[in-house]
Amino acid sequence: MIKNNIPFFDYPRLWNDNKNDLLKIIEETSTKGRFILQKELIDFELSLAKYTNSKFAVGVGNATDAMEIFLEAIGIEKEDEIIISSHTMLATASAIKVAGGVPVPVDIGYDNLIDPKCIQEAITSRTIGIMPTQLNGRTCDMDPIIKIAEKHGLFVVEDAAQALGSTFKGKAAETFGLASDRSFFQAKVLGCLGDAGAVWVSDDNLYERIYQIHDHGRDVKDGEVKRWGRNSRLDNIQAAILSHKLKSYKSVIERRREVATIYTERLSHLNELALPVAPGAEPDHFDVFQNYELTAQHRNELKEFLSGKGIGTLIQWGGTAIHQFKQLGFTQECPKTDAFFEECICFQ
Ligand SMILES: Cc1ncc(COP(=O)(O)O)c(C=O)c1O
Repeated sequence: MIKNNIPFFDYPRLWNDNKNDLLKIIEETSTKGRFILQKELIDFELSLAKYTNSKFAVGVGNATDAMEIFLEAIGIEKEDEIIISSHTMLATASAIKVAGGVPVPVDIGYDNLIDPKCIQEAITSRTIGIMPTQLNGRTCDMDPIIKIAEKHGLFVVEDAAQALGSTFKGKAAETFGLASDRSFFQAKVLGCLGDAGAVWVSDDNLYERIYQIHDHGRDVKDGEVKRWGRNSRLDNIQAAILSHKLKSYKSVIERRREVATIYTERLSHLNELALPVAPGAEPDHFDVFQNYELTAQHRNELKEFLSGKGIGTLIQWGGTAIHQFKQLGFTQECPKTDAFFEECICFQ
């Protein structure tokens, strides 16, 4: 029997498949001595803003920093609550905590993204915002979320760490609220050689505050210190690599959508599986399939079976949803997410 060797993510291929291009980029940038806050980064930020039709993008160290920084710039007070999906990375919740607020996880809906009905039910007098996660490269149905936010005077920000290229009703994920993040962690569809991230923002004042916080409080115009800040800048070499990869990103997304279509065609007759929404099945959504996440009865056996065939799969977040981190103080009940986490598995 032929044994495959298909890891869930093939890290050495990041380098091996692109070695010549990457070496050239690293050499060009390094020989000019351009490492921090230089042309390659500024060009990349401009491309990112253009790609999503936003006014500004700011390169930062990673998506977790991105969320902490935009929340700090917006201004969170102790005990302010922000509603999130329970199916997201712990980083979504920890960013709120670090910024001084309280993350409130709620249950998921039919597409495994935050359920607007559950947002509505979780609103209290202390709620100040909603931060949906645009998970697996799919943008939430943002209409009811924005409606709820407007009705209760809440802000919307997005954890769009997995979403670049995804749209809802033709509008890019990253552009529905005050600010959003993206991760360029190596395993992301647009990934660098390590960690990197970005913040998107369209309001001029908020942009200035975000820029200052990410660079020791220094102002974008003249470098004058305006406030307390930190250092979370996207390295120039990583930015140059990401700019290069962004040029072919559309075709990478198309390929992922083709693969998702093949999965749907070949697996939809299996009653033991519940598949994600197929590409094109919901015209309002353009999904980029950072992950092809499904549920499977006997999930653990399926994972083991595929592993025996040399095929890697992933259970997101190590199999723990946010509200299940009882050691971090969460007391919420999310029965749909509990059931989902018994069976969820991602294919690449
Ligand atoms: C939904 C989500 N939010 C946040 C993050 C954190 O991103 P980073 O590792 O760049 O901080 C990730 C990374 O996997 C993610 O998938």
